Amino acid sequence: MGANCTIDSAYMKTGMKLARPAVSARGDVVAPSGAVLTTPLINAIMDANILSLCVVDDPALNLPPESRLDDDLLSDGSGSSAVIATPDAWIGESRRVMTAVIREKELDLGTVRGLGNYCSDRVKTGPIFSALMMNDPTANYIHQHTFNSSLLSVAVGEAMGLPPAEVAELFAAAFLHDIGMPQVPEHMWVHQKGLTNMFRAEIEKHVEMGYRTIERLHGDTNPLWAAAARDHHERMDGSGYPDKKPAQRLPVPIRIISVCDAYAAMIAPRAYRPPIPPDRAMKEIIARQNQFDRQIIGRLVQRVGIYPVGCQVKLSDGVTGAVVENHPADPLHPVIEAVKSGRTQKIDLAKEKGLAVAEIIVEGKSPSENLP
Ligand SMILES: [Fe+2]
Repeated sequence: MGANCTIDSAYMKTGMKLARPAVSARGDVVAPSGAVLTTPLINAIMDANILSLCVVDDPALNLPPESRLDDDLLSDGSGSSAVIATPDAWIGESRRVMTAVIREKELDLGTVRGLGNYCSDRVKTGPIFSALMMNDPTANYIHQHTFNSSLLSVAVGEAMGLPPAEVAELFAAAFLHDIGMPQVPEHMWVHQKGLTNMFRAEIEKHVEMGYRTIERLHGDTNPLWAAAARDHHERMDGSGYPDKKPAQRLPVPIRIISVCDAYAAMIAPRAYRPPIPPDRAMKEIIARQNQFDRQIIGRLVQRVGIYPVGCQVKLSDGVTGAVVENHPADPLHPVIEAVKSGRTQKIDLAKEKGLAVAEIIVEGKSPSENLP
């Protein structure tokens, strides 16, 4: 018997043997583990919109490389992880899952795993910052913010060497951390030009609403999820809310979510202000070392950079270019690719004395759209 592999269901063939059950995003088992694919079974799997399958790998199947998907980071062996293939699908599924959490008190854990797998894949396969969602007109602020803070949390958790099971729980906690926000009247956080004290007090209630929402969920839950919803605005120096908890009462996953939530919120455009450039946002986080865990800030800088890969920048000599590489030990001096004298050149600012990044060019576009 061969090893198992996860494949795109578009490459199903008759004769393939399932190594895990084929389960829809709703949790319906369409075909059990050990089933051999037949044409009717393939049709049933397609009808159930199951996008990936774990099958017994057999060289005789001649599977092309593009059919193979990474193993599920969040798999617990139940095979119930949904596959999310695009940012649009992520947003759509995220909206559906969050609505069910709030209205029906149910969490579609299979889809949450799929959402986490998507983030993990993006973290592994390209520059982190370029994977973030910025001002996607199809998604509202909450869903984009949830994506960005979840993806950053996964990146930091992995950079800290957390085992996959802990990263999976960290993702779920980050995914649910602002579940209270959609329950705050939308006009308070969407169109508000600066927060009045009254609106701020109303918005701050989202942490308690989120905590209660997760506590009411049916089925198995991890206490970390509710704690993250309640405590992600707490700060290490006791200056946060709602309870001014000090550092020793804030476990590492919540510290990670706090940092990533704050950075993600700053770099997002809002109705009342443009996005804060990522270098300014990161410097602001670094300046708040009393509020955030320093080791976690260091991991975020390591994974994202101060001048993230993919951003367009203007240098101190007026030349513009794109950040193509960061030096982890010297994040203020990245490598820039720019056209100079009609030629594309790489400029390593760590080696160029007197040359520096003057600013990141945002200009209303998302930095991810500024990719070379
Ligand atoms: Fe929040």
